[in-house]
Amino acid sequence: MTKVDQYAVFGHPIGHSKSPRIHGLFARQTGEAIAYQAEDVPAEEFVSRANRFFGEGGRGLNCTIPLKELAWEYADSLGERARLAKAVNTLARQTDGSILGENTDGIGLLNDLTINNGIAVSRKNILILGAGGATRGIIPPLLEQQPTKLVIVNRTVERAKSIVDDFAGLGTLEAADYSSLRGEAFDLVINATSASLSGQLPPLSPSLLADGGSCYDLAYANQATAFVEWGIANRAVHSLDGLGMLVEQAAEAFYIWRGIRPDTASVIQTLDAERQARFGET
Ligand code: ATR
Repeated sequence: MTKVDQYAVFGHPIGHSKSPRIHGLFARQTGEAIAYQAEDVPAEEFVSRANRFFGEGGRGLNCTIPLKELAWEYADSLGERARLAKAVNTLARQTDGSILGENTDGIGLLNDLTINNGIAVSRKNILILGAGGATRGIIPPLLEQQPTKLVIVNRTVERAKSIVDDFAGLGTLEAADYSSLRGEAFDLVINATSASLSGQLPPLSPSLLADGGSCYDLAYANQATAFVEWGIANRAVHSLDGLGMLVEQAAEAFYIWRGIRPDTASVIQTLDAERQARFGET
């Protein structure tokens, strides 16, 4: 009997994860024989559960909230983006048995912005809302595109300043608090706060969005998030949630594990149709 390679996503909570569905679609599309399941793993159990998973022959893990920093510590070696972000969302067992950690969140965002939606990052003024782990994950690939300006705004400005210090040297990065942003307009506003998860919105002035600008919420939901609605209300050209990024980061992980890059457009379309159908039922 052929042994199917085992993969999983660890997180807490994990109940509504779309990752098993996404990797299932990738496997069907590429003909790769893999099994992928979601496991509820609280932070205090992460090391023992990861040890058991890889000890039993598991090939790769995705790690989500609240495990990305722990996965960064767990990895034997790190890809450049993960090293800079100090957060890992993809672990891969190498042929020598060691565990490689990489962060595919930022490249997932960049691919969804630039390839799927035609939203430029190079030479644009970009604002990131929030200064937590999600922000750290997306900064390296954004700075690689050399935006004119990349500003991180946070309620607690010290957290934004500490990110700026950590990434100094990679590119032009500034920290701000919400009240100091008056008068500035941005071509792209990215919501990396956890506010969407509780239906809240950071204190945003409508004039923050430049004419022809776009909005992107890293969070996703079956209905438009408060931030996506803010973008629509303020005439953003695109006001998107993070479903496309979710599929793109998964495709990068699949590539690291299997060496094959799945087609993402058809998978995004399928998931979008599924959530619309689900929302229509409620
Ligand atoms: P994650 O790892 O998902 O980034 P986190 O480290 O808890 O989560 O960070 C959450 C971010 O969302 C923080 O930047 C937080 O702002 P503070 O550092 O000032 O707390 C931000 N955030 C959460 N709720 C918010 C709200 N209602 N308005 C503005 N910012 C909010």
